[in-house]
Amino acid sequence: MVQSMSSLRTTGEEIEIVDQLLLPHIVRWVRVDTPAEAFDAIKSMKIRGAPAIASLASLSVARHVTLALSASPQPSWLATPSALTAHLSPILDNLLTSRPTAVNLSQALTRLRGVLARAEAGGWTGVQAAQAVIDEGKAVAEEDVGRNREMSRVGAEWLLAQLEAAGTIAPGEKINVLTVCNTGSLATSGYGTALGLITHLWETGRLARAFYTQSAPYHQGTRLTALELLTLGVPCTMLCDTMVGSLMQHFPVHAVAVGADRVAANGDTANKIGTYNAAVLAKRHGIPFLVVAPVSTLDPATLSGRDIPIEHRPPMEAVLARGVAYPPIAGKEQEQVVVQIAPPNISLEGIYNPSFDVTPAELITAVVTEKGVAHNAHGAGTIDLSSVL
Ligand code: MRU
Repeated sequence: MVQSMSSLRTTGEEIEIVDQLLLPHIVRWVRVDTPAEAFDAIKSMKIRGAPAIASLASLSVARHVTLALSASPQPSWLATPSALTAHLSPILDNLLTSRPTAVNLSQALTRLRGVLARAEAGGWTGVQAAQAVIDEGKAVAEEDVGRNREMSRVGAEWLLAQLEAAGTIAPGEKINVLTVCNTGSLATSGYGTALGLITHLWETGRLARAFYTQSAPYHQGTRLTALELLTLGVPCTMLCDTMVGSLMQHFPVHAVAVGADRVAANGDTANKIGTYNAAVLAKRHGIPFLVVAPVSTLDPATLSGRDIPIEHRPPMEAVLARGVAYPPIAGKEQEQVVVQIAPPNISLEGIYNPSFDVTPAELITAVVTEKGVAHNAHGAGTIDLSSVL
């Protein structure tokens, strides 16, 4: 099986991420030595994707504590669980502010806080508490790949069964699936969520073609999903975000599968800007719309989409494009250039740049997780997530 590119890798206690701002033209691994560097990498989107940022944040805390444990003398904040909590709390608080919409980050940091609380209540030593924080931080990253494979299998089988039962496809027929943004191995610790489902269909001989949107302004589609699908050898077609309606009018799209940054208690789902447009169009064309995400992306404490904090990126980012010279200059190493598309005197107040939108549950056919599928029974306005929580 061809391996797709990873978002991060560890060697011993060393953490490296691939700088996603430079992809697909330049593959540069950069070290992330401290939680402060992890914060910068997440905020600047050198690493992005809800599960991947949770993994990096947790691993950076694990590394920070590991280095302290092996220092001689050990810092005084390892003396007791409460000293450890006092030291780590501002670090966790800071990491939490790096990107607000994806709940995976907050859930991962809550897990680390939970370990600290148990250590304080249980009368553990400082060193025991530190070791437990390290184990939990590493577990956040390690759990991701296995659950991605599971949700991809579960979602693909469920989708094919639905399409066959409805007579949309013949038994064994291959399908076309549209996705938005990048939800593959670059957005996770490996394999991916919605792109994992597409990869599973491909690996099991049931995918005809993957369609993916450009996902402007960051071009997670054009730059990252393209790279992943081409690396895997999956037949694929890119379209601009404005072309989804046209695609659905002119090609058989059997399903739309997207990832999620946060699924509220009623099933409303925040995901990359443009997801809502695709969902409205899918409804118009009677195409199943699947949200594929780990249970850690479900947020029962947030009642509906109205309560999900939506990140607005710096306005300038919406009028910039990154790339290399075209056509390539023979004999010259490729260097990335950032170009401004808008007139130089455009005002920052004149640019709208939300990074995510919310798709109401009534437009979502099913939420697929590693624990199973919660579906929108009989077109109800909400999705009951209780079976997968
Ligand atoms: O701004 P990004 O690139 O972090 O947005 C990513 C997405 O919206 C993904 O669809 C989502 O995080 C799920 S990744 C498995």
